[in-house]
Amino acid sequence: MKKTDAIVRLIRQEIENKDILEVACGTAEFSLSAAQCAKQVTCIDIDSGRLSSLVEERENIRFQEMDAVEMDFACDAFDTVVLYNALCHIEDQYDTILAECRRVLKPEGHILLIATWKMDSSLMAEMFGDRLEWLEGNCIMKLGK
Ligand SMILES: C[S@@+](CC[C@H](N)C(=O)[O-])C[C@H]1O[C@@H](n2cnc3c(N)ncnc32)[C@H](O)[C@@H]1O
Repeated sequence: MKKTDAIVRLIRQEIENKDILEVACGTAEFSLSAAQCAKQVTCIDIDSGRLSSLVEERENIRFQEMDAVEMDFACDAFDTVVLYNALCHIEDQYDTILAECRRVLKPEGHILLIATWKMDSSLMAEMFGDRLEWLEGNCIMKLGK
């Protein structure tokens, strides 16, 4: 099973039939997996260079080139916001990006920081300590609005 499919299975209650935003999506592998059961997936990255061409083939995914520091979305727009293996790359802007993620998140929604790489999970361990959840070797931090 593809890694991102396995992650979506682990957090299915946060994805199924929901409006998802993936921030700093890179290839958008996570978004492609989430789109199999989400209502709608929006994914953004500051650089579209690594985006998978498969994204164009799916009706319920839209990609937008956008800086996560200042997102072009309304407040309270998404049920779930995901950052997948992206924390190390946005570390310097983490506070600003987290504030933006909270702004676009619906009141009852969750932000999920997910790491399957050691580089990201080590940083998350430093930042969140024993508040982190470990599921099948993957590191997940769930934050509210
Ligand atoms: C490790 S990479 C890709 C992670 C992605 N989830 C994946 O699995 O392919 C981190 C990404 O963060 C993006 N990024 C860095 N700063 C950003 C910002 N301010 N706004 C949006 N994307 C950003 C980079 O362009 C890069 O694609």
